[in-house]
Amino acid sequence: MFETRPIIALDFPDFDSVKAFLKKFPKGESLYVKIGMELYYACGAEIVSYVKSLGHSVFLDLKLHDIPNTVESAMKVLAKLGVDMTNVHAAGGVEMMAAAKRGFGDQGVLIAVTQLTSTSQEQMQDNQNIQTTLEESVRHYARKTAEAGLDGVVCSAHEVISIKDATSSNFVCLTPGIRPAGSEIGDQKRVMTPSQAKAAGSDYIVVGRPITQAQDPYQAYQAIKSDWNAAL
Ligand code: C5P
Repeated sequence: MFETRPIIALDFPDFDSVKAFLKKFPKGESLYVKIGMELYYACGAEIVSYVKSLGHSVFLDLKLHDIPNTVESAMKVLAKLGVDMTNVHAAGGVEMMAAAKRGFGDQGVLIAVTQLTSTSQEQMQDNQNIQTTLEESVRHYARKTAEAGLDGVVCSAHEVISIKDATSSNFVCLTPGIRPAGSEIGDQKRVMTPSQAKAAGSDYIVVGRPITQAQDPYQAYQAIKSDWNAAL
């Protein structure tokens, strides 16, 4: 499953900033955007309807993690909003992920977070009492995600080969931590360029600041998109 549009992370605090940002793109250019917790909790479901009404696709990044029944009901609501992709924490377990899938249905892509990339191996072993390597924990959660019938996981582009090896080649890997060659890395640690991520097997890339903070966001978007779509 290869998505030609880089997903733009709309990491903005309010509606007005989103409106101002989206105005910088030509009318009729269909984008794929990520709405995360900050924006969703600030604006509510209205932000999803607004972005969808402009013809864009939406990845709603809320990382659900609760008892199966609650997650299933919440997913039914998200499906009604028309979101194209959403996610849960794999740590919620196979039963919870399967319930999420039942609730969300087949209208979009459902993926899981394995270990957050902000978690180090030492923190995982100490805080979660998981006594294995971080890589093995990620592979384990990816297998459980596939077992629950979900489409794939959010991961680092550096983990794609290992995850597809643990699951299957068509298991979706969505990768943030993308930076065009020569740009500011910011707080990301292990980054890849769009074409490196493609070569590593990513199916979707998520890009925030290199587009949202650019002088000319549309130009930055197009450059990232053409690198992502460049022939290998
Ligand atoms: O600005 P930047 O390109 O670093 O934004 C990346 C986006 O992807 C942010 O919304 C960030 O929260 C998200 N993300 C990430 N790493 C993960 C999961 C999500 O950077 N492992």
